[in-house]
Parts: sequence; C-alpha cells; structure tokens
Amino acid sequence: MTSESDGLGFPKGFFTRDDESDDAEFYSYPRYVTHIDDGAIDAVGVLYAELGVRGAVLDLMSSWVSHFRQEPDALTVLGMNADELAANGQARSWVVHDLNADPSLPFGDDSFDHATCCVSVDYLTRPVDVFRDVARVVRRGGLFVCTFSNRLFPTKAIRGWLLSESGTHQQIVGGYFDSAGGYDGARTRQCPTPPGGDPLYAVWARVS
Ligand SMILES: C[S@@+](CC[C@H](N)C(=O)[O-])C[C@H]1O[C@@H](n2cnc3c(N)ncnc32)[C@H](O)[C@@H]1O
Repeated sequence: MTSESDGLGFPKGFFTRDDESDDAEFYSYPRYVTHIDDGAIDAVGVLYAELGVRGAVLDLMSSWVSHFRQEPDALTVLGMNADELAANGQARSWVVHDLNADPSLPFGDDSFDHATCCVSVDYLTRPVDVFRDVARVVRRGGLFVCTFSNRLFPTKAIRGWLLSESGTHQQIVGGYFDSAGGYDGARTRQCPTPPGGDPLYAVWARVS
C-alpha cells in the first residue's frame, strides 16, 4: 500500500477491484448457495440473538438466507439479485439496490431497529458513505452488525481487504464506523466456531 490516501485515512487504491465492471452483471443470476459453513452460519445466528437483533431489521447485501435463529418481526433484505431476495424465507420485504453505484439507502430516517451485513462488507467500494447512511435509517440505540469470514469472490473484493489479514479486517471495519460517524465505539469479536471450519469475525456498533 502507498502512503497516499483518499482523505479518510485509507491508502490510495484501497477500494479498487480486479473486476470493476457493473456489479449487476456479476450478480445477474441467482446463486442458491451458502457462503460460509454451517458452524459459521450458526455463529451468526447466535451473535444476532445475543445482541438482541430483532424487531424491524435491515439485512444489507443479502441473498436467500439471513441466518437469524428467530425470524425478526419485520426483516427487509437489500441485495443485488431479485430471485435470491424473493426466496429469502425470513424477509417480509426486499429491494434490489447497488450500494457501489449509490450508497444512499432507499429508506426514510429511523426506519429500522437494527441493521446487519453478513460476509459482504469486503465488496463495498464506498463503505463509509454506506455506514453513514445506515446510521440515518437505524434508530438511535440500534446496532449495525457486520460479520465476515475468510471466503470471498476475489475479483469483486476491494484490494485493501485482499491484501490484509483477518485481524486487520476487524480494524478496517472499525475504521468504517469511526469515519462514518454517528456510532458509539465499535466492538470486535472472533465468534466461536467448530475447529477446522470457517472462522467468523464480527464488528458492530450502536447508533448514537
Ligand atoms: C457472499 S454473498 C453474501 C450473501 C448473504 N449476506 C449471506 O450471508 O449469505 C454477497 C452478497 O452481497 C451482495 N452485494 C454484492 N455487491 C453488492 C452491491 N454493490 N450492492 C448491494 N449488494 C451487493 C450480493 O447481492 C450478494 O448477495
């Protein structure tokens, strides 16, 4: 990484990707797969339950599964593929929206109790703008919970992520919260997962 930065403290080139083509092309067909193993999926659900992620919830960068142990009262899922989102059995509503093309969320202020983003934050090219807007649409006191592992679509992940270790990934996401503003200090955790399986890391913060 060079020492040049984008003004937010991230090095020049940090948010570039091998595949800079329109994300809509990459996600044009549905992938009814899971992106982490069952142990890591379970850990996501356990974390959401422990943190009390319930009520009106926005699951960002979502697909056909959202990993809640108990379905929230009203789950809205946002992602890139309409067929995947429509197949999400826990969702009450869904919207296709490209956060790299437009990081503004298509929701009013204080629309949600909490927000989540599972194994996808590494694809955001304008994460600070997205995190700032999450703090707008989530009510004060609500959480934004980001989880991630060590598997990804490499051509679509940002270079800054690909060139960093897992511990640094937690710092990167913490930096997104700090740079966005509107949150209390971010918390980080490596969640317990079965030995030999996919690891699961979490960074979350409360809207202030
Ligand atoms: C690895 S999958 C994870 C899906 C789901 N969150 C899960 O836990 O299985 C990455 C997801 O990010 C979404 N995504 C990728 N680029 C996006 C973008 N530019 N805007 C919004 N969502 C995006 C895709 O729709 C896809 O569902």
